[in-house]
Amino acid sequence: MSNVVLSCNGLTKVYDEGPEHLTVLDSIDFQVSKGERIAIVGSSGSGKTTLLNMLAGLDSASSGSVSICSQDMAALNENERGQLRNRHLGFVYQFHHLLPEFTALENVCMPLLLRRECAVSEARSRAEDILKTVGLEQRIHHKPSELSGGERQRVAIARSLVGQPSLVLMDEPTGNLDLHTGERIHQLMLELAEQVDTSFVVVTHDPVLAAKMDRVFQLREGQLVEG
Ligand SMILES: Nc1ncnc2c1ncn2[C@@H]1O[C@H](COP(=O)(O)OP(=O)(O)OP(=O)(O)O)[C@@H](O)[C@H]1O
Ligand SMILES: [Mg+2]
Repeated sequence: MSNVVLSCNGLTKVYDEGPEHLTVLDSIDFQVSKGERIAIVGSSGSGKTTLLNMLAGLDSASSGSVSICSQDMAALNENERGQLRNRHLGFVYQFHHLLPEFTALENVCMPLLLRRECAVSEARSRAEDILKTVGLEQRIHHKPSELSGGERQRVAIARSLVGQPSLVLMDEPTGNLDLHTGERIHQLMLELAEQVDTSFVVVTHDPVLAAKMDRVFQLREGQLVEG
């Protein structure tokens, strides 16, 4: 089996709704191996969120391709892409996107329940464990509107990790967190990378987090530059 979890080739995104064309991603070639942790840095508006959305198949490319676990995302229909995401991908959005009508615990259980692989009781117990790890054991029955910004962010992180996916894409995961909590999240990421070979692509402005990753890329003028 291939050691490559994510591969994108000639990935290009041009926004051309307005009067001018904006080339945000310009023919990006990029690969992530099993268990590898990658940081992506870049100034505001450089295209980091656009890139993560493309990698997750949440938005379509102008040209080029993205493969997750050797599956070409464009060759799948929306339903199949959803299944691939559920099985292989965890995603932490820049603005968390929790389901507002569900509690923290229910939000974290959701990826496991969608997989239909385990009983509800096991999903709850795994979700409780990971919520504990991110320091939220006291808040698991609260809905997102009753949580602080950083707490919501931690629920979103727990949700992305609970299913031990092949690859986790994170957009500014620790931007709202204090040093100690951020450190706990970093530790959890390192453990998962080591124990279950989860790969991470993390967009961050946090130099401490970036320095802990295996490779750091800067997104500049549509190109990913290492170092
Ligand atoms: N749907 C859209 N239509 C047109 N332009 C867009 C669209 N979405 C994003 N852009 C533009 O593409 C560029 C990249 O946006 P993106 O959100 O990827 O930046 P970013 O690097 O994530 O920034 P930040 O650090 O502020 O989150 C920006 O100039 C933005 O205005
Ligand atoms: Mg962004």
